[in-house]
Order: sequence, then structure tokens, then C-alpha cells
Amino acid sequence: PSRQPARRRTAVLATVPVTVAALLGTTGPTAAGTTGAPGAGDPYFPLSGNGGYDVRHYDLTLGYDPGSRRLDATAVLTARATRKLTRFDLDLKGLKVTAVTVDRTAAAFRRDGQELVVSPRHALREGQEFRVTVAYHGTPKPVTDPDGSADGWITTDDGAFVAGEPQGAMTWFPANGHPKDKASYDFTITVPQGRTAVANGVLLGQRTAHRKTTFRWRETQPMAAYLATATIGKFHVERYTTRDGIQVYNAVDAREARAAAPVLKKLPAVLAWESKLFGPYPFRSAGSIVDHAPDVGYALETQTRPLYDSAPDLDTLVHESAHQWFGDSVTLTAWKDIWLNEGFATYAEWLYSEQHGGRSAQRAFDALYARPAGDGLWAYPPGDPGSGAHIFGTPVYARGAMALHALRRAVGDRDFLRILRAWTTAHRGGHATTAQFVRLAEKTSGKQVDRLLRTWLYTQGKPNRP
Ligand code: ARG
Ligand code: ZN
Repeated sequence: PSRQPARRRTAVLATVPVTVAALLGTTGPTAAGTTGAPGAGDPYFPLSGNGGYDVRHYDLTLGYDPGSRRLDATAVLTARATRKLTRFDLDLKGLKVTAVTVDRTAAAFRRDGQELVVSPRHALREGQEFRVTVAYHGTPKPVTDPDGSADGWITTDDGAFVAGEPQGAMTWFPANGHPKDKASYDFTITVPQGRTAVANGVLLGQRTAHRKTTFRWRETQPMAAYLATATIGKFHVERYTTRDGIQVYNAVDAREARAAAPVLKKLPAVLAWESKLFGPYPFRSAGSIVDHAPDVGYALETQTRPLYDSAPDLDTLVHESAHQWFGDSVTLTAWKDIWLNEGFATYAEWLYSEQHGGRSAQRAFDALYARPAGDGLWAYPPGDPGSGAHIFGTPVYARGAMALHALRRAVGDRDFLRILRAWTTAHRGGHATTAQFVRLAEKTSGKQVDRLLRTWLYTQGKPNRP
């Protein structure tokens, strides 16, 4: 089923010799010259991301009116062509594009589903740095994911809950939307006075004029598009700097404030505990956005500043914080490797509980292992859940964490913790794959664990007790 959009596009582009390989990211020359691919080659989300260039920086200027739900925006992307390009795509769903320039020269553009197809006046040379400016506006709508959940720009009663995993970035800015391409970000967000706009990284400044407030945020560390946010609401704001020099910015909806306070108070301690286990906190800023978005049903580890749809419990805070290492700093290369995010963040919850007087990881493992063979936990393997519809399923979170526990049993506590640390160090700010994790586990422990991990990650059904 994941191939269908690619086939549909082949028909649409029938006038030029586009091959399946081209659609999957390995485009060659065409009659028209050289075109970037409409997808990054991920079979779970074939049109997510694009081929032919790398974005270095996004500069997003957004004006949003919660009353009319209108977004007025300009995005400036600084990118580098990875091959000669006469044409390239950006991901953008909905919204009206009014102008596109490439290096200040007006460029031709058209829309094709979730692709914004840009043809610059002059072809881009391989290796050329270029700047694309897209002016657009409209009412952003979330995207419905294969599992039925919604992500992207999700309207709330006082603003918007903005969470882009796995493919919602394109609902509010033109993006190279696959996590393979990380970039730094600047956000300039203008909202009616009294509302707060919270994005990633550090707050550079905030100014009110003519009953509107502009918030300027900057994330200098590489970030996947799905981790960007521009959440807007009526928030209570709290700011402080931790002992380790991390700037914390918490934004909390008043309706969630009482329930959130005792958990948010633990954030510095949770980050300090995770830093001890996983290595230094990967970013300069931290915090939380606690929204009141009853229809959403999930939280997201938005980089530096996780986003909650309601007051989180401590497990959830520990989980989203752990994602700052596992997912945000060390980012997956293909969505099938999602267990590298969710299995690890879940295992962080188990470790936290174990080291804070709660249930041990062994007991968490045993409780899950007791589930009968017909249970949903064993419905599919976590290492390749099979399609985008299953990336947030129980096997990915729970059996993914069980895989890590099986590894821990095999190599011992000391080497297990050395593996986790070596992992976050080796891929800090970058990307990784499951195969790299298996190799690193073997190198660090000196033990052969590939069969064990293959069983826990890739085989159908309930594995034998390790
Ligand atoms: N990564 C998030 C978490 O487990 C879950 C995101 C779910 N997204 C979705 N569209 N259902 O922390
Ligand atoms: Zn998670």
C-alpha cells in the first residue's frame, strides 16, 4: 500500500521518463534536466522528504490569528543541492502559496498533492548553496496518519497544538519533511497580545506592539522537521536556568497548571538523572509545553521542549525527556527503525522507576512477558512494524523496551549502560540505524548479541524467554 502514491505520481509525470528509482530518491537525468525526487525513499512514507538537496536552515516567520485561524507566513530555506537540479520539491499540504523565489529570483512553482514543485529560473549546480523563499497563507489543517491519529497544526480553543510526528511539519511550513534531513531553525511568530507562541530552542526576545506580540525563537542544534513546534495558547510561563546551565522555559495552560506543577518541578532532576545515564544533555535549552488539547491523545518530544496535550504524569515526562537523547539528538534514518526512539524512551521509564524505588525493569519485563501468545504485544516485530500504521503500536514501545532488557541481561548492567552512552556519543546530533546499534552493542560488550537482538526485533510471534 505504501507504494501507491508513487505509482499515482508516475502517471501524473508521464511526460518525462521518471522511474520508480527516481521516485525513491535516486533520480537521474530526465528530458528536462535533473529533477529532485518527491520523496526521501522511505517506504513507510514515500512522499515524506525530497531528494536532490539538503536543508541547512529554516527561517520561519509566522503570523497566526486564533480567531480566524488564519496563518500568514514566509519560509526561507537555506539549502545545498546534492546534484544538478532544474526542479525540486518541498513538502507542503494545504495552504495557498503566493510566491516562490530561489536566490531572490522568482521561480515557477506548482502544487501536486503534498508536493510543492519548484522550478528555479536557473538550474542549480551540484553542491550549490541556495536560498528558497516561500510566501504562503491559509488555514492549516492537520494530516491524518495511517493509524488514524492526527498530526501537524491542530487547532485548540485558544490557539494551536503543533506536533509533526511523523509527517505533520508540511501542514504549517514547506519542509524537507523526512528526519534524514536535519537543520537549524529560526522562528518569528506573531500572535494577538495575551497569547504565547512557543517554539524550540532559546527565546531570543519578545515584543508587543499594536496589540500583537512577536516571539523570536532559535534552535541552533540540528533538528528533524517533525520535532519543530510553534504551539500557541494562553499560557503561564516559567523560566529558570538549571545548575548545569540549561535554560528552561515552561509554558502551561491554566487548566492544566495544578496537575502539571508537581511533575514539572522534577524536570531538572529528571534531566540530571538522564544525563548521568545517557551522557550530557544534548541541547542548551529545555522545558515543557503543557497544552489543553483533549482531542489529541499523545505527547511529542518536540526538540528541547516536549509538548503535552494535558498535564503529564512522571512516566511521560521521563519518556519525552529521554527522547531528547533517543530520537532528537540521535535521529532515525528510516521510520521502520522507530523502536530506536520508542523502545529506548520506554526503557528509560523502566530504569527511572527501578532507580527511584519503583518497579524494577525486570519486573516490567516479566509482566509483559506473561502476556499470552495471542496478545497484541506479539502481533508484529518492533524492528520493522511493517507500515506507517504501526509505528506507534504497543510492540514498538513495549517489545522494543523488552529487546533492550534482553540485551542488558546478555551483556550485564555495566556494559549495557556503556552501550547506551556510546550510542548517544557516537551519533550525537546525527543519525543512526538499527544495524549500527547492533554493531555498537557487540563492539562495546565484546559479546555476540546479533542473534538475540534479531529475535527480539525482527521475528514474528513471542520470542523464547531469554
Ligand atoms: N513520539 C511520541 C511519543 O511516544 C508519539 C507521537 C505520536 N504521534 C502520532 N501522530 N500518533 O512520545
Ligand atoms: Zn515516545
